Amino acid sequence: MVQTALNPATLIPRVIGRYSPVVVDHAEGIYVTDLDGKRYMDMTSGIAVTNTGHCHPRVVAAIREQAGKIIHAQQNILAHEPMMKAAAELTSTLPANLNQVFWANSGAEAIEGAIKLAKVATHRPAIVAFRGAFHGRTHAAMSVTSSRAKVRGHYEPLLAAMYYAPYPYLFRNPYKGDPVDADLRYFAELEHLFETLVMPDDVAAVLMETIEGEGGYIFPTKRWVQKVRELCDKHGILLIMDEIQTGMGRTGRMWGFEHYDVTPDIITVAKGIASGLPVSAVVADKALMDKWAPGSHGGTYGGNAVGTAAAYETLRVMKDEDLPGNAARVGQVLIDGLRAIQADFPVIGDVRGLGLMVAAEFVTPDGGPNSAAVARVIQACFERGVLLINCGTWDQVIRVIPPLVITEAQVREFLTIFREAVATAA
Ligand SMILES: Cc1ncc(COP(=O)(O)O)c(C=O)c1O
Repeated sequence: MVQTALNPATLIPRVIGRYSPVVVDHAEGIYVTDLDGKRYMDMTSGIAVTNTGHCHPRVVAAIREQAGKIIHAQQNILAHEPMMKAAAELTSTLPANLNQVFWANSGAEAIEGAIKLAKVATHRPAIVAFRGAFHGRTHAAMSVTSSRAKVRGHYEPLLAAMYYAPYPYLFRNPYKGDPVDADLRYFAELEHLFETLVMPDDVAAVLMETIEGEGGYIFPTKRWVQKVRELCDKHGILLIMDEIQTGMGRTGRMWGFEHYDVTPDIITVAKGIASGLPVSAVVADKALMDKWAPGSHGGTYGGNAVGTAAAYETLRVMKDEDLPGNAARVGQVLIDGLRAIQADFPVIGDVRGLGLMVAAEFVTPDGGPNSAAVARVIQACFERGVLLINCGTWDQVIRVIPPLVITEAQVREFLTIFREAVATAA
């Protein structure tokens, strides 16, 4: 309930759609507590952000300490230790060619930066993105987004020279019964794009999420990703991997791309990087970054001292507590538990996941997307003190993305509540 006269419906524009009426007071680990003292299990991580858990004591201490030293050390005027230590720590988790960090503030801003870098570095105009992708809400990011029409709708015209190929949504692929594997059919569509719509040597970059997030938690095959990488190499196209939702240990590895044995040319990082402070990054090789002339990109707040102090400590916690390892172990318990529920309730058509990036897709009896069941199950969980959010073009998917500090016992507690919610609501 809204417990205060400070009502968000009065003060915050409705464009910020709200999943819950909770007005939060404080949070710790996987729990948030509202102004009345009611506690909720947060299975959203604030959309995959609080990977170290809410208010991890080490991150809080780092923020407090840095805030007492200097908050705004503007990056064109001053360099400072936190931005360099965080960059060194971040790149130490990445392959050798991802060695320089452009700091920014939001995921969308990182996508803008990556697109600008690719265009400048290649002197090519076009970007190829994938259907169902979500890359953010600024104009360039919107132009490569197609998870839901309303993200782009009524904002046309968007950027020119943006092309889209289908992403291998194997649960809902149109090639069922085809003797050729569906992922190869999807890949053929990408090749066909280069035959029919855009010349490969006009393409600066192929931009992809390593797993599509907002579009429905869609997991490509390793073979498909590797073929995309090969195609980029063949045509001198840069491969940008958007790790904004999949990165920072979420999938049971530090980075989503590690599951495919490929190395991107550029990655975008945000969300989990600073445990909730607005920090993002474009990471690429120095040789590529050197093609960006001084002053041709930047920003007032990029590399904020408090934000990057939080990022540094977040990265250290991630390592010291082996949070990717916990995500892999506990995530498997979650996936197995959801599959057991699926076996009893045909309204769940598919359970898919890697680490703690996990989803249950709800279906109607004829196999169509079932957003009504998703809404009811989310509401039933909310009434039982669990926060969840959906995703997917048709709101047909519940994503389960708790902080990576979640324990096996807490996952089992969640599964008991989720089973009850599905039984009563689906
Ligand atoms: C994969 C991906 N890219 C980009 C973004 C945009 O990030 P932000 O909301 O910080 O601009 C998001 C946000 O959900 C995302 O999931």
